[in-house]
Amino acid sequence: MVVGASTSSRPTVPNPAPIVLLACLVMAVVVVLLRMRVRRSAENAPAGWQYKSLRYSLSEDAGGSPAVAGQEPLPMQRTIKVNLGERSYDVRIGPGELDRLGAAAAALPAARSAVVIADATVAELYGPRAVESLQGAGLTAAIIDFPAGEEHKTLVTFGHVTDELLAVSPLIDRDTLIVALGGGVTGDLAGFVAASALRGLRWIQCPTTLLADVDASVGGKTAVDHPAGKNLIGAFHQPSAVLIDVSVLSTLDGRQIRTGLAECVKHGMIRPDGRPYGRDATLLDFIDANAAAILSAQETVMTELVARNVAIKAAVVSADERESGERSHLNFGHTVGHAVETHLGLGKITHGEAVSLGMVAECRLAVTRRLCNHSVLERLEGLLKKLGLPVRWAGLDPAACWAIMQHDKKVRGGKVRMVLPTALGQVNVFNDIRESEVSKALGSDAQ
Ligand SMILES: NC(=O)c1ccc[n+]([C@@H]2O[C@H](COP(=O)([O-])OP(=O)(O)OC[C@H]3O[C@@H](n4cnc5c(N)ncnc54)[C@H](O)[C@@H]3O)[C@@H](O)[C@H]2O)c1
Ligand SMILES: [Zn+2]
Repeated sequence: MVVGASTSSRPTVPNPAPIVLLACLVMAVVVVLLRMRVRRSAENAPAGWQYKSLRYSLSEDAGGSPAVAGQEPLPMQRTIKVNLGERSYDVRIGPGELDRLGAAAAALPAARSAVVIADATVAELYGPRAVESLQGAGLTAAIIDFPAGEEHKTLVTFGHVTDELLAVSPLIDRDTLIVALGGGVTGDLAGFVAASALRGLRWIQCPTTLLADVDASVGGKTAVDHPAGKNLIGAFHQPSAVLIDVSVLSTLDGRQIRTGLAECVKHGMIRPDGRPYGRDATLLDFIDANAAAILSAQETVMTELVARNVAIKAAVVSADERESGERSHLNFGHTVGHAVETHLGLGKITHGEAVSLGMVAECRLAVTRRLCNHSVLERLEGLLKKLGLPVRWAGLDPAACWAIMQHDKKVRGGKVRMVLPTALGQVNVFNDIRESEVSKALGSDAQ
């Protein structure tokens, strides 16, 4: 009884066997239900569902398109529209676009003849492909070349090329197309020829350097240099189409790729991304995550990189074609960059390297003004270094750079204007930059 009494005062321990049995039964039912659901959703899945995941692993195996971790594979072709009312045009980006030149030209109204303008290097590498494509589409085609290099982006070369163009007559008429095939020098020069010859001819841009792909090919600025300064004689003349063949980047040397990358980083610093695509990563993250593939000009990654940059430039240009407002944001890194380029002299430093130094100096100045956090400068410097771009340059003379800035054509009322970061992907224009600030940002303690 004592046992009975004591048993009734303790908590009752139920027999475990029925509970385990019940648990097993419930689990079995859940597993069966889950399996039925998975099978049903696989049956109802859109046709592309399985293909998509298969395609992802295939492209990874092929060393293909990593994008940013967790995102879908990158497409091989992009088209971005530059919205400028009746002067709107498409920028097509992808490998093999050069072979579509003929089709793109033939699609323009009344196009019967085209003259390709290229520097001697590009004319030899890609001239025959361009001419073949045009002829294959039924157009009469000719090619004019000129010596490669910024030193030939002059009125003298402009004169020679125009002479040759007019000598091709009677081929030339108001419906003739100019094709600018080459880097930014060719785009600027051939675009200016197109803007002037016969009071304006239509033109197609086929850029062949990364710098021209992401910067010079969008916006319709054409120009030649003058002894008094770069790009002082020119016109705004929008192309009818832009075809960017990323496969031609494979013949560019690494320094040329990096110089274009400086402009890409600039775009990432002034706008968070080139998103009409709904991708999550910012442009800076994308460049960071894909640096190795970019530096080796991997085609799908280049297509995405160029497309994002073109989208940014197109958005800025569409909003402000004549550079009265937002377009000036594209000058981030360029006030100091141009001064450094001029100070060191032609051939010592590439444009992109100078822009890299300029962005760092201008960002440093912004940090000193407390416009943005030091973390912005760290991120910028870290990415530029990863890409092999300079963040310091021994022996720069800040006073000489300041003197050059005073002569910049963008100086208004003697005051130096600068585009400065206020956060990552965000900038503002400041009109009151002082010499002491530039000295500090460029001076030996900053170097
Ligand atoms: N219009 C604009 O909005 C704009 C914007 C930025 C820069 N620009 C201008 O762009 C010019 C710089 O452009 P760039 O850096 O392209 O210089 P670039 O045109 O001189 O090309 C650089 C060199 O690369 C060679 N090259 C070009 N494509 C090649 C390829 N696929 N393979 C092998 N070699 C190739 C060229 O022959 C040249 O020797 C400057 O004059 C600048 O003012 C214009
Ligand atoms: Zn630039």
